[in-house]
Amino acid sequence: MTRLDKYVSENLPCTRSEAKKLICSGRISVKGEIIKVPDFKIEEDCDVFCGQKRIEKISGLYFMLNKPAGVISAVKDDIHKTVNDLFPKELASRIFPVGRLDVDTEGLLIMTDDGDFCHRLESPKKNVYKTYFAKCSKKPSEDAERIFEKGIAFKDYTTRPARLRLLGEEDGCACVEVEICEGRFHQVKRMLHHVGADVIYLKRTGIGRLKLDQSLEKGTYRALNEEELKMLTEN
Ligand code: URA
Repeated sequence: MTRLDKYVSENLPCTRSEAKKLICSGRISVKGEIIKVPDFKIEEDCDVFCGQKRIEKISGLYFMLNKPAGVISAVKDDIHKTVNDLFPKELASRIFPVGRLDVDTEGLLIMTDDGDFCHRLESPKKNVYKTYFAKCSKKPSEDAERIFEKGIAFKDYTTRPARLRLLGEEDGCACVEVEICEGRFHQVKRMLHHVGADVIYLKRTGIGRLKLDQSLEKGTYRALNEEELKMLTEN
């Protein structure tokens, strides 16, 4: 629950005292009823109107985090350090990760306070491809690219078409790039294992057209700019 004047000032371009004036003048209605009490308590998701116009809830925190290995993709945990612990308290209490990376996976993770945005980005219908860089114990089998493209029938699900690109060798490991448009548990690791290449190191480098900012140190974050946000919401 939140105060009506707080809701109005956060979601209209006006200050808290202007919001109070709007409310007292009878311009604001909640669930069809005019409310003239600034500290009237409302649910965050209920219908609030200014005249005939619905006041949409603006939720506006969007960060790119370079997740380090060793922290879990959760808001809170009694034992492990979480991705939220990498943010100052006042931000950490408002945001959550969009999807998950395994504890040992590094790289691009979006953190937001916008549930709809999160839902859209995660929806399989949206076909947002996520790009991963992996170092593997061995080179994937010869037909691995075709197998990824066709989809792999695991016992519990069949993967949607994915892309695999061989990048070369580094420190005796085979380096590959994988693009998938789902986010099943251990999906990249399972897919690479299926083609004979066990993952030793995994990093997410992109989501849709958005690429991880190379200048972001592990464990640090920055706000997404307008253009980057558009890249994530364009479909
Ligand atoms: N696939 C995996 O196997 N692990 C991740 O963290 C993300 C995708």
